[in-house]
Amino acid sequence: MNPNVTLNERTQEKSLAGKVALITGASRGIGLAIAELFAQQGAEVILCSRKLESLEEAAQGIRAKGGKAHAIAAHMGKLEDIQQLVSRIEALGLDVDILVNNAGISPPHVESLTDTTEALWDKVMDVNLKGPFFLTAAIGKRMIARGTGAVVNISTTSALMAQPEIGAYCISKAGLNSLTRCFARELGPHGIRVNAISCGVIQTAMGDHTTNDPQRFADMMKINPLKRVGQPEEVAQTALYLASEASSYSTGLILQVDGGVLA
Ligand SMILES: NC(=O)c1ccc[n+]([C@@H]2O[C@H](COP(=O)([O-])OP(=O)(O)OC[C@H]3O[C@@H](n4cnc5c(N)ncnc54)[C@H](OP(=O)(O)O)[C@@H]3O)[C@@H](O)[C@H]2O)c1
Repeated sequence: MNPNVTLNERTQEKSLAGKVALITGASRGIGLAIAELFAQQGAEVILCSRKLESLEEAAQGIRAKGGKAHAIAAHMGKLEDIQQLVSRIEALGLDVDILVNNAGISPPHVESLTDTTEALWDKVMDVNLKGPFFLTAAIGKRMIARGTGAVVNISTTSALMAQPEIGAYCISKAGLNSLTRCFARELGPHGIRVNAISCGVIQTAMGDHTTNDPQRFADMMKINPLKRVGQPEEVAQTALYLASEASSYSTGLILQVDGGVLA
């Protein structure tokens, strides 16, 4: 941080100019909205998810608007993919300033928590928790060497509200909240901030699980003071706040973007 430049000067337009941001799960939904906004704010963005074709399309859309974007395929539940992702970023000669752990899965609901299979448990934990942990560790190490960085984790209100039918998902995201706090403590002294966004129902392919089920949607709206689902862009704006100098004195924060369901 340059002491000769005031906070207000640092948070002017194009608040991510000169930054490199890695966003997982960036081919659609919340991740794509974050990548688009970060690129618009001047960041060079690296988009990551499993399917290269849809990633390339998303990156091309950003480049068409004058942004700088790269597409790298990686499975967030596989450690070898995470290591390759980090190596490929190094090969591009880029240092990641901002990491957004957004990729996540919420597989079809089970009848009962007691029906959860080991395969389902492992799949959910690998993508939602193990991947973010090891990617944050790998990128965090490089951020430590440079004494700067910001990590934003995309979590959910389901981490705090027990929903047995998606129990493995809830538990994995509660773990992600704890990961956020643990890394915030360890990396803070090195100038690296680690925060999370706790999303309510957001209109994406994943959010359709709730919005397409009339009963589940009605139940959700009963406890939602704003009486609507959120848009990916509304999460992206909060991610921008947490990734930029605007939140320079916040770390270990889990910020609700949920229409007020936990109010
Ligand atoms: N939508 C909601 O209502 C809601 C609410 C609370 C929290 N969230 C959280 O928000 C995040 C984004 O969700 P979304 O709603 O935008 O979901 P989405 O529309 O289903 O998008 C998920 C993204 O993650 C990628 N992905 C899935 N599995 C992956 C894997 N194993 N490795 C790497 N990338 C993977 C997908 O691309 P590929 O399929 O090509 O890999 C896609 O780009 C998730 O962490 C989710 O838990 C969402």
